[in-house]
Amino acid sequence: TEVELTEADYGLDGFADYMRKEIGDQPEAMRRALLGRLDSRFSTAHLGGLRLDPRELRSIRRVKFLGCGSAYYAGQIGANLVEELARLPADAEPASEFRYRDPVVDPETLYVAVSQSGETADTLAAVQELTRKGGRVIGAVNVVGSAIARECGSGVFLHAGPEVSVASTKAVTNMSTCFAMLALLLGRVRDLSVADGRRIVAALDALPRRVEEVFETEEVVADAARRFAGARHMFFVGRVRGWPVAREGAQKLKEISYVHAEAYQAGELKHGPIALIDSGMPSVVIVPDDELLVKNIGTMEQIKARGGPVIAVTNATLPEGLADAELRVPRTEPELDPILFGIPLQLLAYHLATELGRDIDKPRNLAKSVTVE
Ligand code: AGP
Repeated sequence: TEVELTEADYGLDGFADYMRKEIGDQPEAMRRALLGRLDSRFSTAHLGGLRLDPRELRSIRRVKFLGCGSAYYAGQIGANLVEELARLPADAEPASEFRYRDPVVDPETLYVAVSQSGETADTLAAVQELTRKGGRVIGAVNVVGSAIARECGSGVFLHAGPEVSVASTKAVTNMSTCFAMLALLLGRVRDLSVADGRRIVAALDALPRRVEEVFETEEVVADAARRFAGARHMFFVGRVRGWPVAREGAQKLKEISYVHAEAYQAGELKHGPIALIDSGMPSVVIVPDDELLVKNIGTMEQIKARGGPVIAVTNATLPEGLADAELRVPRTEPELDPILFGIPLQLLAYHLATELGRDIDKPRNLAKSVTVE
């Protein structure tokens, strides 16, 4: 598969900053990640760079994603996808922890090192630790020829194109898109049915168009950002599929706006953090129209009952007046919701930080890639 970058991948292309430009790049970046990798005949994915034949794919008993920051949260989305589509136990761990805890390396686990830059020191060290102990590790990396890509030797390139903004957007979206394909492949060599495989292939194929539809509601997001720009703290709340989405949403807001944002699993709110809810603590709640919708409506009611403003990110029909702002997300298959739900959150962070007059592309204290410990 040839993936060609054009002039437009490098310039600002008329945008005020790289972050907004790269958010807008996402439909095209996602098309590149999907190019030549979806197989509608056998309802599966082709990821030749993994260098694993079907028998080797079947010998994998567990999958573990390792990355830092947003790459770790994308790994959490990947772990959920692998559990859902392939019914293989999977989890994600910060590479910065893994490298220091003398990890037990399991020969039947597939380790996935996740990194946009391919140069993050902690992720590279985790890969080296795995290699030293004979672990099977592949890369999910954006920059071809980077240290992590070279060290892994096999994997899946993200094909997001060059990412300049410190706050990662299109690379993160392509991480979870690639993990959906990995999960589909692992599922189809096991018990994922043709019908389910076909459903996921079709939804992935249509996903770049769904991303374009998110931009049609940007003014609503910008308006919510203006209304809540005065908040000093914000909660991001989600459960199961929505939990890594909430973590990534909080991360984006912290990085570029310096607003204090905390992500919580919806069910954990009542075990402590709900004490912080009042009219000055808006909550961004991730509400997909899935089997947990009723639970998430309950969460919003609990927040409202304590005077907390609610910003719902949703593709469901919500009870009238429940949310103070509604950020609409187009529909896809429920397993893929986390990929789409991240995009209005990027826009929310972007518009809120713009409202506060922050330096979007160069947030304080941060570097694009952390090559030191
Ligand atoms: C993302 O917005 C952050 N700047 C940061 O968390 C980043 O994802 C992390 O440092 C990992 O970088 P990498 O993907 O290049 O390894």
